[in-house]
Amino acid sequence: MKLLLGVSGGIAAYKSCEVVSAARKAGHEVRVVMTPNATRFVAPLTFEALCGHKVMVDTFADALDHIAWAKWAEVVLVAPASANVLGKLACGLADDALGTTLMAVPRGRPVLLAPAMNTEMWLHPVVQRNLRWLEALDRYTILAPVEKRLACGDYGPGGLPDPGELLAAAEAALQAGAPRPA
Ligand SMILES: Cc1cc2nc3c(=O)[nH]c(=O)nc-3n(C[C@H](O)[C@H](O)[C@H](O)COP(=O)(O)O)c2cc1C
Repeated sequence: MKLLLGVSGGIAAYKSCEVVSAARKAGHEVRVVMTPNATRFVAPLTFEALCGHKVMVDTFADALDHIAWAKWAEVVLVAPASANVLGKLACGLADDALGTTLMAVPRGRPVLLAPAMNTEMWLHPVVQRNLRWLEALDRYTILAPVEKRLACGDYGPGGLPDPGELLAAAEAALQAGAPRPA
């Protein structure tokens, strides 16, 4: 599987390292696109070492990487997907490498979003509305966050599923196969 992993600025970004590690061990190719804020949680170097490929953070560093990488991917997984990324995606904003690459993903290609955030953020009506908007596009699969004791100390929904589950969801999305037409 050619897996394109999008990482945004959430406390669970470190768990995405385990997704890359597990995917590589399972024989998959992985490329990583990070938001600038994600690099405040995990260094791109960590992902580069784990996936054996350069990481994209700056849309303008390599002219057409966002198009080429979007075409390259057989499955796209955004984990963690921040509240901010969900909102931007729902509104069609493409003001960083992740947003721009997501916009360029060919129609029918599986795109999985794994939101993770504080419970109040998750339950916020605007976040829930953005999720409904995204689901209505029939382009994205939302991997629901898990209920647990979160990094902030609160208990409730908002936790990123285990890396193994995220990888299994990506593999299942590929198996589900035939890209849907636009
Ligand atoms: C310590 C810390 C942890 C954060 N964790 C999350 C989180 O888990 N989920 C989330 O949506 N935002 C979280 N945020 C807020 C985002 O980092 C912030 O909204 C940022 O603008 C997201 O940028 P991005 O979506 O471009 O990556 C956190 C912020 C800080 C300082």
